[in-house]
Amino acid sequence: MPDSYYQDALQHKIFNILSEAADDINVEAYVIGGFVRDFFLKRGKAEDIDVVAVGSGIELAKKVSEKLPGKPPVKVFKTYGTAMLKIFDLEVEFVGARRESYTEDSRNPKVEQGTLADDQNRRDFTINALALQLNKKDFGKLLDPFKGLEDLKTQLIKTPLDPEVTFSDDPLRMIRAIRFASQLHFKIDQKSIQAIKDHSERIDIVSKERIVTELNKILKSEKPSVGFKLLHDTNLLQRILPELTHLEGIDEIDGQKHKDNFWHTLEVVDNISLETNDVWLRWAALLHDIGKAPTKRFHKKIGWTFHGHEFKGSKMVYQLFKRLKLPLNDKMKLVQKLVLLSSRPIAIVDDDVTDSAVRRLIFDTGDHLDDLMMLCEADITTKNPKRYKKYHNNFKVVRHRIQEVEERDKVRNFQPPVSGKEIMETFQIEPCREVGEIKAKIKEAILDGDIPNDYEAAFQYMLKEGEARGFKQA
Ligand code: CTP
Repeated sequence: MPDSYYQDALQHKIFNILSEAADDINVEAYVIGGFVRDFFLKRGKAEDIDVVAVGSGIELAKKVSEKLPGKPPVKVFKTYGTAMLKIFDLEVEFVGARRESYTEDSRNPKVEQGTLADDQNRRDFTINALALQLNKKDFGKLLDPFKGLEDLKTQLIKTPLDPEVTFSDDPLRMIRAIRFASQLHFKIDQKSIQAIKDHSERIDIVSKERIVTELNKILKSEKPSVGFKLLHDTNLLQRILPELTHLEGIDEIDGQKHKDNFWHTLEVVDNISLETNDVWLRWAALLHDIGKAPTKRFHKKIGWTFHGHEFKGSKMVYQLFKRLKLPLNDKMKLVQKLVLLSSRPIAIVDDDVTDSAVRRLIFDTGDHLDDLMMLCEADITTKNPKRYKKYHNNFKVVRHRIQEVEERDKVRNFQPPVSGKEIMETFQIEPCREVGEIKAKIKEAILDGDIPNDYEAAFQYMLKEGEARGFKQA
């Protein structure tokens, strides 16, 4: 096969500097991995570049830095023999070509120096092993020993070596195969699928942080169900998110069935992904029904129920986030809130539901009312066109009622118009339980519509509540 050159890929001025630096210290250097793959896929602007040096990656990084204005600092990761440089708007990662293997039960690789071919051998997929030469003599030459370019064309995820070896070197690659399939709409080679099925338990040695990075990328892909279906079919899902696989299956008693909440959930995730790229809203869709497995009951008269699954589910969100080392911050709280409130909007559809229920929903949801409505609408997965239309209309009614009540009462993010300090000053009392009680009573009275959401009404109500507790206005 004649040599192919792709100087086009290397137009950014950084590549000339890399080329000169490599020639200066007399090492072979190549751009490899995601940058090259995405160039051939014409996939957006690169943010990071992986450079492999047949020799010391750290030395090459230092030489490059010397040639740059202001000599930016080289970040060295000694344990891995790698270095990182931030150049212009790009992060460039330097590694020395390696032979690397992970011992059976360890997460830490054993590393030895190797050739470019060694380095390509130990990469995850043929499409990620493509390398473009940087040295002046062969600038832009493609080195593609595993026909990665062909796999890019036929849209195939395939390991350079026997998948058993590639996955055993780093079991995270089992999820990465699925992540690339989901992101790029590629198929995974059958042998690789089989190897994942055969060794899914090896995912247990991988750190949660690395797993979550890949899960988030699956969730951010255009149609996340593609990735989750593959995770399910290869038995990985039951090891990393058993809460989801527990939702699978349809039970039937006395001719009464419930829907399969696992496959339903994947449809909900796809639906919400048409509306938002926010990965936390996609997490909320993924987890919105997880409380259904532990709360499922059958009652002879009413059939299947999942009482309290929203509350149970929101508690499970915390456990799951903690286990996966996802952030336990306001993002987790948002997911919990959406799971907890996921059945509330539909409850206010009926005409006889009072404004007070609507006010409470607005108050409880705060800034995330639109997110909650988005989740509820994504939750409609019926294939019956009549019902589909009816359910969507129901939510139109809900949105309308919310808008009406909100314009009138302004209770979103509302703070009780009388503060604890004012209660204490009015009755000349020290901080105590009753101050909190009176404040809560005022809030309840406003949400119930017993008094309007204004200062004068709240003040009068406070006097009444204080006097009922034996306090006198000072
Ligand atoms: N790589 C690997 N095995 C891994 C992780 C990464 O062989 N477990 C190699 C692949 O050659 C990959 C390169 O390291 O292309 C860079 O990895 P990473 O930055 O994680 O992925 P990218 O391929 O750059 O893709 P993306 O930018 O979409 O994450």
